[in-house]
Amino acid sequence: MRSGCRIGRPGVRLYRGTMDDTVAEQIEYYRARAGEYDDWWVRRGPYALPPELERQWFHDVAQAEAALQDFAPTGRVLELACGTGLWTRHLVGHAEHVTAVDASPEVIERNRERLAGAPLNIEYVVADVFGWRPDPASYDVVMFTYWLSHVPDGRLAGFWAGVRSALKAGGRVFIVDSASLSPQPSGGRPEQRQLADGRQFTVMKRYWTVDELEADLRSRSWTPTAYMTDNHMILVATATATGLERGD
Ligand SMILES: C[S@@+](CC[C@H](N)C(=O)[O-])C[C@H]1O[C@@H](n2cnc3c(N)ncnc32)[C@H](O)[C@@H]1O
Repeated sequence: MRSGCRIGRPGVRLYRGTMDDTVAEQIEYYRARAGEYDDWWVRRGPYALPPELERQWFHDVAQAEAALQDFAPTGRVLELACGTGLWTRHLVGHAEHVTAVDASPEVIERNRERLAGAPLNIEYVVADVFGWRPDPASYDVVMFTYWLSHVPDGRLAGFWAGVRSALKAGGRVFIVDSASLSPQPSGGRPEQRQLADGRQFTVMKRYWTVDELEADLRSRSWTPTAYMTDNHMILVATATATGLERGD
């Protein structure tokens, strides 16, 4: 039995796993969820929203997607925790080469199917982001969508150091994530998730506020810009690293 067992009294679920257990359970969860993941993005089935909220959601999705088009992710792009390709597909028309990394082979397979035939040169890597190291200074852009919120607080420093190391001079980061429902920073917290078949998992989730994300990135010597989409449903951010400015 893993040491990260869940305990609790009725109605209260405490998670007493170690950080490694958390990372392992997140991978397990997304592997099991691969076939249902897109339902959330397109608001199907259990993720359906009332009409007004649905309109707001798709407005904000379009705004976040437009932000990526404006950002123009050109050159060599590293997409971390790439998922089923909902964002990978928007690299078409910009990126020369994409390295798409995800710990779930099931998710990577869906990404491969979605992008089959797309004019995009993609190399897929099945790997745990926390253990995998790309060649240093080899990417123009690092992108991660709905991933930073799952990075446990204790792994943030190592994660951002890895992103920085992957970037060439002048390199840029593009981030999309869940919006914070509260103006108060919450830190990373365990969150219970349930699949259609009833299986339950615990993931770490940190709902970054704009101010908190910008302050955190500045403290790590990044220059960020972050904002919420019009209906406050999605967080969009970009960053460049101090010391990695283009020399020309
Ligand atoms: C919330 S989904 C986001 C997927 C995609 N970026 C998107 O926005 O559609 C999180 C993704 O992280 C992947 N993942 C979870 N833990 C990981 C890890 N330690 N290393 C690499 N990928 C991981 C999951 O398999 C899943 O595809």
